[in-house]
Amino acid sequence: MSSITILGCMWGDEGKAKIVDFIGAEADVVARFQGGANAGHTIVLEDKKYIFHTVPSGILYPETKCVIGAGTVIDPYGLRDEMESLIAQGIDFTNRLFIDDRAGLVLSLHRQLDQKSEENLGAGKIGTTGKGIGPAYSDQAARCALRIGDLRYPEWLEQRLDNFYKYHQITLSASERKEELESLLEVGKFFQPYIAQTDQMLRNWYREGKSILFEGAQGTLLDLIYGTYPFVTSSHTVSGGVCIGTGFPPRWLDNILGVFKAYTTRVGAGPFPTEIEGPLADQIRQKGNEFGSTTGRPRRIGWFDAVAAQYSASLNGIDSLAITLLDVLTGLPELKICTSYLKHNQKLPGFVTHPIELKEIQPEYLTLPGWDIDISKMQKWDTLPKEAKQYLEAIQDLLKLPVKIVSVGQDRRQTIVNK
Ligand code: GDP
Ligand code: IMO
Ligand code: MG
Repeated sequence: MSSITILGCMWGDEGKAKIVDFIGAEADVVARFQGGANAGHTIVLEDKKYIFHTVPSGILYPETKCVIGAGTVIDPYGLRDEMESLIAQGIDFTNRLFIDDRAGLVLSLHRQLDQKSEENLGAGKIGTTGKGIGPAYSDQAARCALRIGDLRYPEWLEQRLDNFYKYHQITLSASERKEELESLLEVGKFFQPYIAQTDQMLRNWYREGKSILFEGAQGTLLDLIYGTYPFVTSSHTVSGGVCIGTGFPPRWLDNILGVFKAYTTRVGAGPFPTEIEGPLADQIRQKGNEFGSTTGRPRRIGWFDAVAAQYSASLNGIDSLAITLLDVLTGLPELKICTSYLKHNQKLPGFVTHPIELKEIQPEYLTLPGWDIDISKMQKWDTLPKEAKQYLEAIQDLLKLPVKIVSVGQDRRQTIVNK
């Protein structure tokens, strides 16, 4: 009986899926608890690349059950396409994928509202993925949203859809209304076999001794409340989000693994204290292929920020660390880690989340030597060059947490376990 929660601890794209896939070999169940198709989770397996948006990254293991929890928001057409494309590649979802009937629906109006709101904000935009995530979660809070379970009840669905449009002060023509209802009922049939009350299933599995892996999407600094608001997503990406998003009791979160890139990236707008620009950033971006898995946007690049990382580790109650993309730093003459934030030359006690305060601070750096030899095929901690070990040890010391996993390449096999 055990659970492991795998969380992105910065601004997303930390390589969570790679770690979920690596650890997933031992999991009976992999569950998503928040977010939606704003996520882009990449797994590379024997030169084949999979990018998951809403499907949990455990689906590649044929025996593993996968859950899309109540805290997620689902674009039903997008998810159907994602599943159909995986079915065409031989992946079987029967009796393996369970979607909570309370998961919210992302409708096309949500995507339009997301895009419109970004246009209206102009220079002040968030830089969302445009997937309708913010409006879908807002409608849940406003109680006018539809949920995937509603698709099973035609009359109820009709009422809910009318209320939804009334809330948005939109009048559909009779033919538009009919078309949307028919299309929702039709896509609903596709999901019928997968819909369940997954909170009870998860608790029962845990009691039966199954091992459960919770797969975070986005990252802690994108959390709706604890992130760098308003430049955040609209869900709860922190460890507490697991319980809200799946109905899993907090006392049963046995092990929480924090995933950090060996440097930092951010896609979208918002403060980024350790950001680097110019040729060095371009070099890291090219080498790390730092282009969004969902939108293709170039990711912003920065040094490892141990101040933000400490905040994230303590907020989530992280037990151990996975450091990914270490191979990308190979060849850099020196590496920097931000060890404190200074304001008017005074050290701040820790991370701050307000954009104004983040703009005002000056990062203070520790500079460490780089290494030149290729580490991407290394399988053991001991074989890593001493400078790479020194870099990882500095992170361990600053976060006061052990590095358990080091990822040195995209493939499942390019992973070092620190025993
Ligand atoms: P996620 O959203 O946190 O799952 O991360 P993404 O999949 O969006 O982005 C991480 C990218 O880094 C993907 O292209 C991965 O295949 C890749 N990746 C993961 N781990 C490593 C690694 O150790 N080295 C390199 N070079 N690439 C990695
Ligand atoms: P994964 O799971 C990185 C960012 C967007 C934007 C902000 C709000 O692959 O790590 P949203 O569309 O959610 O309303 O956008 O959040 N964002 C991500 N950045 N990785 C992600 O997911 C992200 N999902 C959303 O770029 O800044
Ligand atoms: Mg991603």
